[in-house]
Amino acid sequence: MNKDLRQPIIAGNWKMNMLASQVEAYAQELLLLTQGHESWCKTVVCAPYPLLPAAIDAFKGSGVGTGAQNLSMHASGAYTGEVSAAQLIDIGAEYVIIGHSERRAYYGETDEIVNKKSLAALESPLRPIICVGETLQQRELGVTFDLVSMQVKTALHEVAADALGRVIIAYEPVWAIGTGVTATPEDAQEVCHAIREVISGLYGQEAAGATPILYGGSMNDKNARELLMMPDVDGGLIGGASLKPESFAVIVNAASQR
Ligand code: 13P
Repeated sequence: MNKDLRQPIIAGNWKMNMLASQVEAYAQELLLLTQGHESWCKTVVCAPYPLLPAAIDAFKGSGVGTGAQNLSMHASGAYTGEVSAAQLIDIGAEYVIIGHSERRAYYGETDEIVNKKSLAALESPLRPIICVGETLQQRELGVTFDLVSMQVKTALHEVAADALGRVIIAYEPVWAIGTGVTATPEDAQEVCHAIREVISGLYGQEAAGATPILYGGSMNDKNARELLMMPDVDGGLIGGASLKPESFAVIVNAASQR
């Protein structure tokens, strides 16, 4: 499917940053700086749980979507400290990041857990942003494609074809996250294309052609345009550069103009 038929998605991942008291001013500035671009590029902000109500409120009616950075694989029950898909939907969240490499590295999230969380999200109306990507060592060993392919296949295990329409994949090479080292546009394209091939093998070409595949890892206001021009890069998952409305807006506007 022609890239032009896929709506670009620019999602900010605030990680464990910001305070609820800062959200309103952030939202106002972002909306001002992206005025006129909102109709084509889908902008999403993924906030820490306690900031989500403020973010949902601040972006209400603006077209900017809001999401969480994690969710429980369970529907409800005795899971102290966890948050369910139903609870996110209940407050008005629409998206959830799943399997971020920081969760895989620091909280032991395996591909199987990522699969269960993806299924939990898809049982609700949430749109999961499923993160995959290799470490520097894995890249140097030449196993990037095998590894990313396995991460995608496992994450999508038992995901029904009609639910795939809500799935967003984010290719985030671990070595590029928070390091200031970005994948070259060609490297990002190569892996995003390989991911689309994997999805095509599982669900067919048309479904693969409709699936948004984002790049994440030190994407910023300077390098976004080049990355977003690649044929299989449908948007970005932005960490550091999403914390300032000025830099995040430049990326949103670059995605709208591609
Ligand atoms: P940075 O943009 O800070 O490298 O983070 C990327 C990321 O992890 C987004 O989820």
